[in-house]
Amino acid sequence: MRLILLGPPGAGKGTQAAKIVEAYGIPHISTGDMLRANVKAGTPLGLEAKKLMDAGDLVPDEVIIAMVDARLDEDDAVNGFCLDGFPRTVPQASALEELLARKGAPIDVCLRFSVEDAEIVSRITGRRVHKPTGDIYHVVFNPPPADLDEADLQQREDDTEEVVLNRLEVYRRQTEPLEKYYWERGLLRDVQAVGDMDEITAGALEVLGEYEPVPAQS
Ligand code: AP5
Repeated sequence: MRLILLGPPGAGKGTQAAKIVEAYGIPHISTGDMLRANVKAGTPLGLEAKKLMDAGDLVPDEVIIAMVDARLDEDDAVNGFCLDGFPRTVPQASALEELLARKGAPIDVCLRFSVEDAEIVSRITGRRVHKPTGDIYHVVFNPPPADLDEADLQQREDDTEEVVLNRLEVYRRQTEPLEKYYWERGLLRDVQAVGDMDEITAGALEVLGEYEPVPAQS
């Protein structure tokens, strides 16, 4: 299964990706996570990306495309992958299409998650990430278990209201055109993105089940 999760910041892509990759045994390829790992490691790429990420702006296409190209060459991506946060611009989508055509492994489906802006702001500002595992929580909607050490729970630097409003604006301008891009290719499918998280997972897995046999461990 080769799929793309498309949706604005806070739409639940990372939350649902964790369940989907578990069900299908495929890697979760999040360009946001890859960039944050580079920032943490202080690599030249991380240094270049940090300022843009903190402001909620996009990292240049050529940097992201090279990063994803290398990641898709890794062994674990041979039997499929779940892309989260990539592509985010039409040039990124075209580059992905070309590189997957070279591998003879096109995208099966692009799942669209749609959530109203007001809900996005409250989801993003309440998000906490568990540093040791990367697990995603929300102070109200998905509270961390009581036995987790609070010092391990982190708020992302770009998860302020001011930055998320810019991220939404950037999404509308640069990423939303991808809805038409994938719709024209017959790959765009809507999934429920608001409400109970387990029901959202079930809905996404139901749609994915139309593309491949039901996964072994759903
Ligand atoms: P990235 O890390 O990709 O962030 P994003 O796309 O803005 O998405 P988020 O991670 O904020 O949200 P999500 O949809 O995964 O939501 P989540 O599941 O966590 O990108 C960060 C930055 O990196 C970009 O701004 C850019 O600078 C750079 N970048 C990355 N990729 C790039 C690219 N391809 N090109 C250029 N630049 C790039 O959920 C959010 C919260 O809501 C959580 O607290 C969760 O618990 C809660 N929640 C989830 N589902 C529900 C629900 N159903 N009900 C209530 N709460 C819910």
